[in-house]
Amino acid sequence: MPNQDSVQIAPAEGKLGVLIPGMGAVTTTFIAGLEAFKLGLGKPIGSLTQLGTVRLGKRTEGRSPAIKDFVPLAKMSDIEVACWDIFEDNAYEAATKAGVLETALLEQVKAPLSAIRPMKAVFDQNFVKRIKGPNIKAKGSKMEHAEMVMDDIRQFQKRTGVARTTMIWCGSTEVYHEAAAVHATLKDFELGLQTDDPEISPSQIYAYAALKSGVGYANGAPHLTTDMPALQELARNLNLPICGKDFKSGQTFMKTLIAPGLKSRMLGLNGWFSTNILGNRDGEVLDEPGSFRSKEVTKSSALEYILQGDLYPDLYKEFYHKVRIEYYPPRGDAKEGWDNIDIFGWLGYPMQIKINFLCRDSILAAPLVLDLVLFMDLAQRAGMRGIQEWLSFYFKGPMHAPEIYPEHDIFIQLMKLKNTLRWMRGEDLITHLGLEYYD
Ligand SMILES: NC(=O)c1ccc[n+]([C@@H]2O[C@H](COP(=O)([O-])OP(=O)(O)OC[C@H]3O[C@@H](n4cnc5c(N)ncnc54)[C@H](O)[C@@H]3O)[C@@H](O)[C@H]2O)c1
Repeated sequence: MPNQDSVQIAPAEGKLGVLIPGMGAVTTTFIAGLEAFKLGLGKPIGSLTQLGTVRLGKRTEGRSPAIKDFVPLAKMSDIEVACWDIFEDNAYEAATKAGVLETALLEQVKAPLSAIRPMKAVFDQNFVKRIKGPNIKAKGSKMEHAEMVMDDIRQFQKRTGVARTTMIWCGSTEVYHEAAAVHATLKDFELGLQTDDPEISPSQIYAYAALKSGVGYANGAPHLTTDMPALQELARNLNLPICGKDFKSGQTFMKTLIAPGLKSRMLGLNGWFSTNILGNRDGEVLDEPGSFRSKEVTKSSALEYILQGDLYPDLYKEFYHKVRIEYYPPRGDAKEGWDNIDIFGWLGYPMQIKINFLCRDSILAAPLVLDLVLFMDLAQRAGMRGIQEWLSFYFKGPMHAPEIYPEHDIFIQLMKLKNTLRWMRGEDLITHLGLEYYD
């Protein structure tokens, strides 16, 4: 039985609106999955909210409920999706072009996918350089664009009758930029929206509009968006959750599995070379140096934080880390990643590990989108505001408070996530001490 006060969580009644800027490979794979599950076609493999369990109490108690029974999550069938994109294709056409799912499956979900037409996007070629599309909002100031997005949100809520709404960015990766003066406070930011400050990106306009509409915001891409003081201030003021950045789906997922293992055995690292080939639109956008830089930063930081060279100078002080992404159209979404890891052991003797991951980018990312929207909705109903560090599990570059370093180790991230769920329900946190079994 729970032994402390549990957190008040409003019930998951009614439909959950999920708003997505960007209706490309990841988004259409996510939506097609939701529709396929309704028809009993396939299972939500890769989703912790749908397949995971959480152990409660002592190992002798035998209590391991499904996560979705333990915390009140919205049902997959209660999700209503709407998207924005710079292209006019409906979700069926976009999914067909993305080439992730087979035609036979897409034909079976054609009707609901065809009904999802993207709203006109807020777009700025300075932030995404390699693509151009016709479905964009009329000219206006950045503040006017934010108001147009708020209007889209209101229309969507009215049309669908959703009880709650959350937003998740699955749009292209914007070019690398750091927080500037306009991001310092909410006042600066709102002034910047009015004066069209060039440092405000489209994703920041969506995020501002979401928060002002009472909608939490998750960022599936590596660029800045809410990772700056002004929008964090807004999220806190309005009691709304935010999280990011960059889905941890493929190569970095592998990296955060292997690196904690090497460290646990005190094996040293001389170098880690990672390269990828991919040929989808994401790869095309990332072929541009500014967008690649955003990705490079989130992809590179994990190892340094996990290995803690300052604490273990003999093992990790000066390893060489290189990350490459090569755009190679024939591969489409079927990305291939190679890692060469030069490690050393007893007496400094060198060894190598090679990883060749033939993955499917959007197949790995879609369940993360599902989990994030369900957990963000839960967080909002539980009154959790600001950065949701417990959702670091899903991100390559987890957002974190300025005074602490981000937690990248996936096993610590999972423990943190599950302990947060236990905490919400007033259950004992699990420390894995276990001495009581041997008294
Ligand atoms: N495993 C993964 O697939 C994975 C992992 C980590 C991060 N991501 C990130 O998720 C995002 C989506 O990936 P994807 O493979 O679906 O890419 P994609 O190129 O297939 O789709 C992105 C869509 O966003 C649209 N877009 C761009 N700017 C927009 C704007 N301002 N407003 C609305 N729409 C806009 C594009 O037209 C495109 O249709 C990318 O930023 C990618 O880097 C993906």
